[in-house]
Amino acid sequence: MPLRDALKIPASQITDESVYRERRTLLQAFAMAPALTLAGCAEAEPPAAPKTVVTPAQARSGFRTTEELTKFADITSYNNFYEFGTGKTDPSNAAKTLKTKPWSVAVGGECAKPGRISMEDLIKGLTPEERIYRLRCVEGWSMVIPWLGVPLGEVLKKFAPTSKAKYVAFTTLADPRQMPGVRYNSINWPYREGLRIDEAMHPLTLLATGLYGKPLPQQNGAPLRLVVPWKYGFKSIKSIVEIKFVEKMPETAWHDLQPSEYGFFSNVNPAVDHPRWSQKTERRIAGNASKLFAERIPTQLFNGYAAQVASMYTGLDLKKWY
Ligand code: MTE
Repeated sequence: MPLRDALKIPASQITDESVYRERRTLLQAFAMAPALTLAGCAEAEPPAAPKTVVTPAQARSGFRTTEELTKFADITSYNNFYEFGTGKTDPSNAAKTLKTKPWSVAVGGECAKPGRISMEDLIKGLTPEERIYRLRCVEGWSMVIPWLGVPLGEVLKKFAPTSKAKYVAFTTLADPRQMPGVRYNSINWPYREGLRIDEAMHPLTLLATGLYGKPLPQQNGAPLRLVVPWKYGFKSIKSIVEIKFVEKMPETAWHDLQPSEYGFFSNVNPAVDHPRWSQKTERRIAGNASKLFAERIPTQLFNGYAAQVASMYTGLDLKKWY
């Protein structure tokens, strides 16, 4: 298709991954054709550099990996979102009932400008950017996901945290009418997570609003979820309705349920096994690899983001503070 015709495709028709992959190639072509301008397309076409154009600076920042992407179909059908059931396919089957518009978030605690704010105002002034991150689940599988989102730190600054804000606590919606899993006590609802303030402010920490260039599907935590790529996936809390700046380390859902198995930090670490299984390797679900029998690859300290984040943990015993 000639480029000028391709440009006429309305964003609403861009629905599947093959088109997304084509767009990446197309954008690369645009980048090399100075006569063409992308003005007007900027919003519908988030910057999406194909593998070959990840710059050394991006690689150093950890913002993009060149590893093979996980397919859109796998990212959206193999999920953990216990509010919709404990099976991997439960969220994609049941989460359609989650109403994500209008959506607001209550921000409070140790900050000068607390308040309830709409999802739109929360990210106002920030342009969602693409981050291609590894996601390592504590269960031993991993994916490579092209997220769309804004740096969490930029969002948090809007509320002017005080010097007492040592941690940030996050809460997911827990509405049994929309979320069938909340009717069962698999977890002490609502799902809660937390970060130390420096972790929350770290440039890698993303407040994701989309993936594969599209808004987040419900099963992935629409309309707003955390992505903390160097920590086990359960820290990346979905469908956030409350953010609170606190002075003390907050209680978190998995720690609350099983403190000996799930710590507050939960940094990916192949040297610290889960009490019931090894964390040395992971099943990488990417490309055409089968979900259950995908090749196992070695797990990396901090999920491969040590260059960016290790300095935050200098002097911290990672075995004790798992
Ligand atoms: N957030 C909420 N609210 N509820 C959950 O059950 N599961 C966590 C995390 N966030 C979970 C959650 C776990 S265990 C993982 S591995 C990731 O979401 C999975 O994200 P994904 O389904 O988008 O791959």
